[in-house]
Amino acid sequence: MARASLAAADPSDRPELALASARKGAADLDAVRKAAAGCRACDLWARATQTVFGSGPVPARLMLVGEQPGNDEDIKGEPFVGPSGDVLSRALDEAGIDRERAFVTNVVKHFKWKPTPGGKRRLHEKPNKAEVGACLPWVQTELELVRPEALVLLGATALGALAGPGFSVMRDRGRALDLPHARLVATTVHPSSILRAGAGREAAYLAFVADLRFVGRWLERPQTASA
Ligand code: URA
Repeated sequence: MARASLAAADPSDRPELALASARKGAADLDAVRKAAAGCRACDLWARATQTVFGSGPVPARLMLVGEQPGNDEDIKGEPFVGPSGDVLSRALDEAGIDRERAFVTNVVKHFKWKPTPGGKRRLHEKPNKAEVGACLPWVQTELELVRPEALVLLGATALGALAGPGFSVMRDRGRALDLPHARLVATTVHPSSILRAGAGREAAYLAFVADLRFVGRWLERPQTASA
């Protein structure tokens, strides 16, 4: 599908059309981002401020995928710019990875939330299977366009959506997974789990940095034709 017709397509059909266009080399990130801004493939758009699409260079050697935007991301329109994003940025830095050079995104592009009992704050709600499925072509489209050498799946929602049910974050974290999306596919915890870790927060953070160091070392390895 041509770039112009993607934005003109029925809002519910856009994720699948974008993916088909990207696979044919007929879409670029700007066109896809514009089409995603009006996506209506599930109902989450109705209560969200905006679509939060991925951000970063295209192509990029590293792509990181989280679950869905949070309150701050929903307001600012950028992924990982709230408290979880602060943890992620600090950990990447400690792992020797330049966040600015990575493409950062989420599986689900709209903030799903419920009000706190007093109605003053918006509380994150986990996206369900149908919502993840409806949104999945967007992150698959990002993968097509970004073509990362290394892909990091942050937490169970990203791992389940892109790797399938045979994987577990805690069992499979910090090592290479046998998956076709990139030359290295790895998983680790979602940074929000560190914020919730209470007394174990420091240990959880250090383990997160260690997982990211594994990826950083892989990116820095000497390049060989077969590696
Ligand atoms: N959590 C995510 O998974 N993504 C964000 O962008 C922010 C919080």
